[in-house]
Amino acid sequence: MKQTHICENIIECLSEGVIGIDAGMVITVYNQAAEKISGVGRTLTIGRPLRDVFPKDAWLADMLEKTLKQGKLFIEHENIISQRMGGGMEGMAPVGVTTSTVLDANGEIIGAVALLRDLSSIKSIKEESIRKDRLAFLGTFAAGVAHEVKNPLGGIRGAAQLLSRKVKETGLIEYTDIIIREVDRLNKILEEVLDFANPRKINPKPLNIHEVLDTVVLLGNAMTGEKAAHLIKSYDPSLPPVIGDKEHLTQVFLNLIKNSIEAVDKNGEITVNTRILTDFHLVEEGYKAAQMASIEIKDNGCGISKHDMEKLFTPFFTTKAKGSGLGLALSFRIIKEHGGFFRIESDKGKGTAVSIFLPIAEK
Ligand SMILES: Nc1ncnc2c1ncn2[C@@H]1O[C@H](COP(=O)(O)OP(=O)(O)OP(=O)(O)O)[C@@H](O)[C@H]1O
Ligand SMILES: [Mg+2]
Repeated sequence: MKQTHICENIIECLSEGVIGIDAGMVITVYNQAAEKISGVGRTLTIGRPLRDVFPKDAWLADMLEKTLKQGKLFIEHENIISQRMGGGMEGMAPVGVTTSTVLDANGEIIGAVALLRDLSSIKSIKEESIRKDRLAFLGTFAAGVAHEVKNPLGGIRGAAQLLSRKVKETGLIEYTDIIIREVDRLNKILEEVLDFANPRKINPKPLNIHEVLDTVVLLGNAMTGEKAAHLIKSYDPSLPPVIGDKEHLTQVFLNLIKNSIEAVDKNGEITVNTRILTDFHLVEEGYKAAQMASIEIKDNGCGISKHDMEKLFTPFFTTKAKGSGLGLALSFRIIKEHGGFFRIESDKGKGTAVSIFLPIAEK
């Protein structure tokens, strides 16, 4: 009896999540770490079929079924588990899963057990440091290139302007117009690159985010052109002020609206949702805000493939013929400087929802 108690305590104290099932795939063991990783409490898991509890993570049930029925063991198999967070929100966490059979005294398989290791902190630390290195390198490199290219570009523009005066009578003026327009476009990209390398300091103050979003929606409406995309505001009027820099945040939300407009077709619908998250647990180290504002830009556009999802914040990653691929990289940095978070969910062919969480101003 005492020994069973010790066993239970050991399982409870493990930092790995433990999920045990019986021969009928019903959950029999579920420790605290498993609750933390999945966001599902044990009252909802013990005694219930594994497949019913994790309908979105069929891979986990498939793995344990293979262990149970074929004796197949998995070691540190990496996958993504859905995570139920407070307020009906869903998240994803990378996990490393190891499975094992449970045998009776005769060596017959009577159950299976999975050990879940939460890889989110390991992954994000690793990814963050890779991203930082790359950004530092890219910043210096790109700024150097931008600087070098800007000067001759100025020369080309000047010469094209002089040329356009001379060719006015010949009907060739449209060519010089193209040169000037394209030079201006290149110049804008270079300015973005330089801005990226030497960012302006943010100046955060309590701020009504709805005012920022109103401006962005107004500008968005002017941008939709032939698509006539429908921009819908769905604000929570009780949302308190957030801490932010108006200019920088306008730039961020404009980037997001622009991406959505570019992603939708003629039946485009883009919704700007705001709400307050009171039970926000994922507060980063050093940041004590317990309440966050959530601002979501949701579209029914082309969506993003799983493969591209990983590259969205990489500077210069673009799938567009005329994109510079700096919009999200820049926005990511600005939100990070605000002590905020980004979340992107997308369904290829159906649409994309980009959520930004910003700290609420303390009263
Ligand atoms: N709402 C969205 N729907 C579909 N794809 C998106 C969406 N937002 C971003 N993407 C994808 O992410 C890529 C990177 O976006 P990002 O804003 O960083 O650069 P860009 O839009 O290509 O260029 P720009 O620098 O002009 O913004 C896009 O090329 C696109 O493939
Ligand atoms: Mg963009």
